[in-house]
Amino acid sequence: MRRVVCPGSFDPITNGHLDIIGRSARLYDEVTVAVLINVEKSSLFTVDERIEILQTVTKEYPNVKVRKFHGLLVDFCRQNDIPAIVKGIRVVSDFDYELQMAQLNYRLSGVETLFMPTNPEYSFLSSSRVKEIARYGGDVSGLVPDLVHTLLIERLRG
Ligand code: PNS
Repeated sequence: MRRVVCPGSFDPITNGHLDIIGRSARLYDEVTVAVLINVEKSSLFTVDERIEILQTVTKEYPNVKVRKFHGLLVDFCRQNDIPAIVKGIRVVSDFDYELQMAQLNYRLSGVETLFMPTNPEYSFLSSSRVKEIARYGGDVSGLVPDLVHTLLIERLRG
């Protein structure tokens, strides 16, 4: 069984994330989407809400499961027998940051990191930008799954 993890905050999931998850699901037998529980960072959606959203928008992929984790990602990988992490790279500055993290994670545990170029259609996209645009009434349809679009409008414009 070839397993990988797609980790992140997913607050909320964007179409860029979904593209990486879907492409990973076509390459690997099992993809675990791991949502970081980060008590230091304030979030728009709770971890459980994010998990529910992720489960809904990935339901077309039977080999994708969604879990939460805290602490080190490599510990989560070891506990779940996952030998590799998949990370999307949007721009060169992502690579700078991700390379160091990948090398550290490998040094800590032997867990590998595989970089997947983001679909150019989404290379400008991030969860924080999406929240900012939605907060000020901008149109984020096409940038996030329809469910997220609806929930963002509900939450931000209440
Ligand atoms: O979506 P994000 O916030 O960019 O995802 C970042 C994430 C969750 C992948 C990263 O912060 C992470 O792996 N955090 C867990 C703590 C950890 O393992 N840090 C790396 C030490 S080298």
